Amino acid sequence: MFIKIQTVRSLEGHAPVRPESMGTLLPCRRRRGQGFAKIAPFESSLDLLQRAGCPRGMSDTNRKSGTTGVKTDEKKQHFDDIYIEPNPVAFKERIIDALDYVSDDFNRATFDRLIKPWCEDRVANGETLKIVDLCCCFGNTTLALVNGMTVDGIRANWKDVDSCRAPLKPRRFSAVVTGIDISGPALAYGKEAGIFDQVIEADLNAPSPEAKEAAERAMTEADVVISTASLVYLDLPAIEGLIDRFADAPKEGFLLVNFLNPFALEKADATKRLLLEKLDFVGSTASRHRRLSPLERENYPGEEWALLELWVLRRRV
Ligand SMILES: C[S@@+](CC[C@H](N)C(=O)[O-])C[C@H]1O[C@@H](n2cnc3c(N)ncnc32)[C@H](O)[C@@H]1O
Repeated sequence: MFIKIQTVRSLEGHAPVRPESMGTLLPCRRRRGQGFAKIAPFESSLDLLQRAGCPRGMSDTNRKSGTTGVKTDEKKQHFDDIYIEPNPVAFKERIIDALDYVSDDFNRATFDRLIKPWCEDRVANGETLKIVDLCCCFGNTTLALVNGMTVDGIRANWKDVDSCRAPLKPRRFSAVVTGIDISGPALAYGKEAGIFDQVIEADLNAPSPEAKEAAERAMTEADVVISTASLVYLDLPAIEGLIDRFADAPKEGFLLVNFLNPFALEKADATKRLLLEKLDFVGSTASRHRRLSPLERENYPGEEWALLELWVLRRRV
């Protein structure tokens, strides 16, 4: 299944939008006046924002839209031009290599400690798990959790256009994986490579009715939702809508999320409160995420690393 895919290119093809920052770690050009929270259909999200210190009517963060619609905190590096490449080689070179993007080793370790034993029990009972990777990009975190790959393994897999055509390791358990993202090219790659079985292309902050319905259905049906390095990009009402669908499903299920430090801390606090209102906390890990880019080191003097808080939560059943 591929919901609303605009164009499927070959792995060697070129994405249509090439911001001027291509090939560098400079931020993409941003359009003025965009990127502030537009809609607030969920009253409780606004209450959460107020508790986080944002008066009603104010934006929840200082996020700005890049040319692709991705909203990134002003003090955080924009990577949108990499997300819309036709294959993950630039992601490997400019993020995993250039910034020591080690977070998937910690995502995998936390998944293995707190979720994988449950998955293995289910699969031993003959089930095929429904996994949703929310804001999946090219599928690096699915490779880490479902295929059990290390960051070095992903690096080797994504070193060039030929080697990235298929995962170097098979899945560790029986699963149907749904990738959801705003980037059509990243989803097309992940589906063609066999990392995802089905994909949903959606701007989760402003989805079309069809994409919204498909994303919400995937959240309801999911046994495990992975949402790493992603909630920072989403508006609180969007997060709440998706988490409500996941939380309301009458079956067991797990969510792995992570929060990035030092970016958008008030928004992260509001997101944590929202998650704790709807789900049971299982456990957490603190770890390195990646090195700060030169732009981020200017914004956060004296800091070298972005850090992660990894949380596992489960449905209340
Ligand atoms: C840092 S990547 C996350 C990849 C992987 N989950 C990880 O932990 O490394 C962030 C992803 O969020 C996606 N994204 C950003 N804003 C989005 C939005 N409004 N709707 C859907 N996806 C979005 C981007 O396209 C990108 O693929």
